[in-house]
Amino acid sequence: MVGGVVRTADGGSVASGVGSVTSIGLDIVDPRLEASVTRIMAMVESELRDSVHSADPFVTEAARHLVEAGGKRFRPLLVALGAHFGDPTAPLVVPAAVVMELTHLATLYHDDVMDEAPVRRGAPSANSRWTNSVAILVGDYLFARAADIAADLGIEAVRLQARTFARLVHGQIAETVGPRDGELPVDHYLQVISEKTGSLIATSARFGGMFGGASPAHIDALAGYGETIGVAFQLSDDLLDIASETRQSGKTPGTDLREGVPTLPVLYALDSDDGDAASRRLRDILAGGPVTDDDLHAEALGLLRESPALKRARETVRSYAEKARSQLAPLPPGPSRHALESLCDFIADRTN
Ligand code: IPE
Ligand code: IPE
Ligand code: MG
Ligand code: MG
Repeated sequence: MVGGVVRTADGGSVASGVGSVTSIGLDIVDPRLEASVTRIMAMVESELRDSVHSADPFVTEAARHLVEAGGKRFRPLLVALGAHFGDPTAPLVVPAAVVMELTHLATLYHDDVMDEAPVRRGAPSANSRWTNSVAILVGDYLFARAADIAADLGIEAVRLQARTFARLVHGQIAETVGPRDGELPVDHYLQVISEKTGSLIATSARFGGMFGGASPAHIDALAGYGETIGVAFQLSDDLLDIASETRQSGKTPGTDLREGVPTLPVLYALDSDDGDAASRRLRDILAGGPVTDDDLHAEALGLLRESPALKRARETVRSYAEKARSQLAPLPPGPSRHALESLCDFIADRTN
């Protein structure tokens, strides 16, 4: 984890550093890269806050609720790192990062309604603090703010953002509808997470390259990496939903199981022919769909945590993280590429 000091516009300094703006473990070996990423992330932070301001104090409060609750700022971080394959001080890098985080935020407001999630970023979700309607409308407002700022980035960025959001929504819809006839559940799930999560993370890395002015080949490598690391990121998040004891995720553990979202460990467990009593019991519980009964839920979570299926899902995360690393090959070696590589380790290791 890196840390540092950010000089403010008035010449003062605040204790900051990438480590305090995002809880992502990132290995930055070059102090100049660290200072540069820290500078971008601090600007993103203040522009994010300003960008959701509304003439209506209630809208401002509801929109700032999750901005201020924190979050890892993973997508802005990828924009920032991607920009280092060109000129990271280019003027549109920061607004591009803000557009990505606002789009992400909008989807979180909506996703917590869909998933009936009570907690987000360690705070009450907007739907539980206010109502589903407020959460949906504030999500719409955030998306509108993202579109407004995207207009400053030019028509290509507006189109990319719109197509990315369409892919993301397709993923959320496909998750809700489930596999088509004849589609394998695991294939369906991997497709869903490419769409719902890989899409925006790929575009974040692409935006970094684009607005930093990187070469087309480097921009494509960044986007390919982003898509794959995005899948690994979602898979590791799904594992945390099962494996985190301590609410380290800022969310309520076991939500996927309760809501009947069949994530990879569950699909692997259902698919296994392990004959031991624990695996058979787990299959029996999971085959019943959403696990809403509290005792059954606790039992299923306990069994999943110890299951070969969870181990297998961890290996799948690792293989996506390794694939993402290999997609960085066209980029010049150096501290920026090293930092992106270190994200692969962070994601592969965070579920251990
Ligand atoms: C949550 O995203 C939704 C997933 C794609 C797993 P993050 O894990 O990036 O959430 P924040 O931004 O840190 O809250
Ligand atoms: C998050 O999906 C993906 C989007 C918000 C588009 P999840 O439902 O799996 O993520 P969490 O666990 O609520 O963060
Ligand atoms: Mg959710
Ligand atoms: Mg969801």
